[in-house]
Amino acid sequence: MDTTNPDPRPGQARETVRVELGPRSYDVLVGSDLLREAGALLAPLLPGRSAIVVTDSVVANVYLDSTLDALKEAGFACSHVIVDAGEHSKDLATLGGVLDDILGRGIERTTTLVALGGGVVGDLTGFAASVLLRGVPFVQIPTTLLAQVDSGVGGKTGVNSTHGKNLIGTFYQPRLVLADVATLGTLPARELRAGYAEIVKYGLIDDPEFFAWLERNGAALLAGDRDLTRTAVAHSCRAKARIVAADERESGTRALLNLGHTFAHALEAETGYDGSLLHGEAVAYGIVLAHRLSAALGHCTGDDAARVTAHFRAIDLPSEAAALPAIRWDPPALIARMRRDKKVQDGRMTFVLTRGIGRAFLSQDVPPEALGGLLDQAFDQGARSASR
Ligand code: NAD
Ligand code: GLY
Repeated sequence: MDTTNPDPRPGQARETVRVELGPRSYDVLVGSDLLREAGALLAPLLPGRSAIVVTDSVVANVYLDSTLDALKEAGFACSHVIVDAGEHSKDLATLGGVLDDILGRGIERTTTLVALGGGVVGDLTGFAASVLLRGVPFVQIPTTLLAQVDSGVGGKTGVNSTHGKNLIGTFYQPRLVLADVATLGTLPARELRAGYAEIVKYGLIDDPEFFAWLERNGAALLAGDRDLTRTAVAHSCRAKARIVAADERESGTRALLNLGHTFAHALEAETGYDGSLLHGEAVAYGIVLAHRLSAALGHCTGDDAARVTAHFRAIDLPSEAAALPAIRWDPPALIARMRRDKKVQDGRMTFVLTRGIGRAFLSQDVPPEALGGLLDQAFDQGARSASR
């Protein structure tokens, strides 16, 4: 991890990260004020000059007009679709509405869908693009930190089911990703922190120097330092691009990107996606549990788990059960949800465990009693600290 900032124009520089996937390769541009140039940046990469921007009700108020203006300036005929902001929109009903609405406009196979927003809009729009007319071009303009470092890159699309999170979806790559870090200036602090959890994940998977850099710089990044943010977003996108290029459809190493997610998805499902627990918050706590489980199984030291816990605590992300919203904490029910995870193979759950900071690995050998014990202990600690 290069911790210096060689940028002669602080706040202005751009970085290009290439996602190498043969004929489906594309660039992720990371920088400021990319939104203003969206039309000019997209035009050379797209087969047609017709675009539909899909966004949510919050992002529409802030960035829809400027995005449409930028596209029109470059000669695009544009329209837009707005869905309700929030995780509840990532469902089959909303998807059906979006598909019908778009088909009602008489689109062609060269019409591009532009996802303008966070991971919810990105996942929903990408899925819509992958099935409309059996596939229309798709561009990501992620406006949350989480979407810029994770969901906007790599081509996982989909919606939630009543049976669990992201259980319906496709792999479908965008033609371009524009990660305009200036848009993060309007993101609520809680959403920024939630996205930060996915940045920490890259350090903990295989980049201990990056984790150490985050320990030093995370607070300043979250306070809004634009250069630190751009550096971390670009670094995260490079990490994700490397993993996706090696294993686009998650037959192996890409599953490492799910560090903490088996726990997180179960906890989110318990909230009914009511917004009380953000995805990134659930991931932070899930990462803590993954490290504690690894320590309990003797793969890493208790100090490693404590270091991760301390970092999340320092930047006010959930590191104990007591910091979670009031969800039903029922270990057998949580484990039942984990058993419906996409990574279950022949009935065996796959966990991302670790041998230490930045040394994550996949395991299907977690004894059920160790998992139950971890969740019981987490609840006991949560209840204890809540009653203090
Ligand atoms: P989100 O899309 O719900 O956005 C969070 C909130 O921020 C929303 O209310 C949104 O309206 C608002 N918002 C977005 N940009 C804003 C801005 N610039 N200024 C002000 N408000 C803004 O949530 P998210 O955290 O971006 O994404 C979470 C989703 O991403 C989850 O559904 C998760 O499963 C998914 N995800 C997908 C992948 C993938 O690889 N496809 C990876 C990680 C997460
Ligand atoms: N966010 C996990 C993945 O893209 O594989």
